[in-house]
Amino acid sequence: MAERGACLLLSLLCLTFLYPATTVSRHADKGTAARQFSPIWFSVEPSDTLAVRGATALLNCSAHSGNAASDPAAPRAHVEWKKDGTFLGLAPGGPRAGVLRAVKLLISGLVVHSKHNKPDEGTYQCVATIDSLGTITSRTARLTIAGMPRFSSQPAAAGVHPGESQVLACDVNPDLVPYIRWEREREPLELNARLVQLPSGALVVSNASEADAGLYRCVVENTGPAKFSEEAQLSLLPETGEERKLKFLVEPLPVTKVVGSNALLPCVVSGFPVPYVRWMQGDKLIEESEGKLEVVGGGSLQIYNLTGEDAGVYSCVADNSNDTIETQAELTVQAPPQFLKRPANMYAHESMDIVFECEVTGSPAPTVKWVKNGDAVIPSDYFKIIKEHNLQVLGLVKSDEGFYQCLAENGAGNIQASAQLIILEHGTFAWQPIGQGLRPDTEPMGGSNGTGVLKCQCDWWVFKKKLSTG
Ligand SMILES: *[C@@H]1O[C@H](CO)[C@@H](O)[C@H](O)[C@H]1NC(C)=O
Ligand SMILES: *[C@@H]1O[C@H](CO)[C@@H](O)[C@H](O)[C@H]1NC(C)=O
Ligand SMILES: *[C@@H]1O[C@H](CO)[C@@H](O)[C@H](O)[C@H]1NC(C)=O
Ligand SMILES: *[C@@H]1O[C@H](CO)[C@@H](O)[C@H](O)[C@H]1NC(C)=O
Ligand SMILES: *[C@@H]1O[C@H](CO)[C@@H](O)[C@H](O)[C@H]1NC(C)=O
Repeated sequence: MAERGACLLLSLLCLTFLYPATTVSRHADKGTAARQFSPIWFSVEPSDTLAVRGATALLNCSAHSGNAASDPAAPRAHVEWKKDGTFLGLAPGGPRAGVLRAVKLLISGLVVHSKHNKPDEGTYQCVATIDSLGTITSRTARLTIAGMPRFSSQPAAAGVHPGESQVLACDVNPDLVPYIRWEREREPLELNARLVQLPSGALVVSNASEADAGLYRCVVENTGPAKFSEEAQLSLLPETGEERKLKFLVEPLPVTKVVGSNALLPCVVSGFPVPYVRWMQGDKLIEESEGKLEVVGGGSLQIYNLTGEDAGVYSCVADNSNDTIETQAELTVQAPPQFLKRPANMYAHESMDIVFECEVTGSPAPTVKWVKNGDAVIPSDYFKIIKEHNLQVLGLVKSDEGFYQCLAENGAGNIQASAQLIILEHGTFAWQPIGQGLRPDTEPMGGSNGTGVLKCQCDWWVFKKKLSTG
């Protein structure tokens, strides 16, 4: 407090003159120019990873420091890893985690002790530090370990009438659904608009014909040995021409997807006469369009490249000459956070008040956290969150120097952006207006030909009150 309270009588914030660039560089030579920013950034950040138990997981992270290219003597960023917020002990002979070339986290022999105890699972992030300058942390990546395949339901013998649809179930642990494929007569089954694998892993055989009869099984295959389900016979039933009541074999469920991904809303109907299936979004009839909206497997709706406009309540309506049935489900489309405004590098003097900006978009609205040199910023008398997500730092002290990061997160992802704060000695000349943001990619003003002009503005401050300008 006392440190922060130290109030300067007169603080010269910026020198104002028209300054020939040559003069500026002479000043720089004499050492009165401010330190340049030393940006640290991640060129690769770890991403969510699904791994198989017993195998090896590799999480990538690559950090760079801005001066390394132009100045080989510049300090290099070194990288460490955190799991669930705690630094990983990567001592030799320690746990199975090891670091490859300082940028990759290698966890070998992933363990799963039981269904509920998977010690390697968790949230990982890498932390890059330049000694004496500061620290930044990467986005977080979730490591999931798929357990051993266990079938909670298997395909069962079934019959299907010509032209109708049938569903063969294959339920495994949710993590392993992406690894399900189907076989008929022990040969890989080629999927198409008629033979469709649902998001649950189940197989839909639609518009059935004699060629579809046979023995089916599903296979869960990732890096471990393949696990086969029981085999089930699908037989073609004779068409008696008798009326059969329409019923849903599979109905769509509420689903949440990320912008840009695809969604398959299942809807499988049986009955005779074979029904026609149409879809509505709200009260609007959906028209198929190639590459965007297609009805597959006799009734399921495939939507490609989701946008926010695809969100809504979808109804699957099946009708034949005598009957209409309908079911509906909501599709939610999430957008991962994106920056509209990132915090900018900043020069400032002690006792000044500054604001780091951070503006994000995303759906649902992201939560925003600030981190200083790798540690969460806890709002206080000196650190305030203003205008939604901006960070205001009041009454700067030398120890406020370092890297500030804005971390934004929602259900669809998380991102981070960082900015460096340099506290200037009083009377130091800064290349940029003080206390204002500067994008790291902004060039200092003034040409290299020696005739450039630097323009800045002079403010005099007394007890943090602005007296005059000019
Ligand atoms: C990590 O890097 C390796 C090679 O450097 C690459 O093969 C792999 O795909 C990367 N993994 C991820 C998740 O980015
Ligand atoms: C069903 O398959 C038959 C051929 O077996 C084909 O002539 C017919 O057009 C198909 N019906 C639909 C609705 O795709
Ligand atoms: C997905 O949709 C977006 C926005 O409509 C479009 O810009 C992009 O090109 C589409 N991508 C593909 C692969 O169709
Ligand atoms: C239509 O459905 C009703 C009720 O399910 C049934 O009684 C009737 O026989 C069916 N057929 C026709 C042609 O109406
Ligand atoms: C010097 O550089 C400035 C800015 O880059 C440019 O506007 C000016 O024309 C240049 N003058 C000469 C003599 O090259």
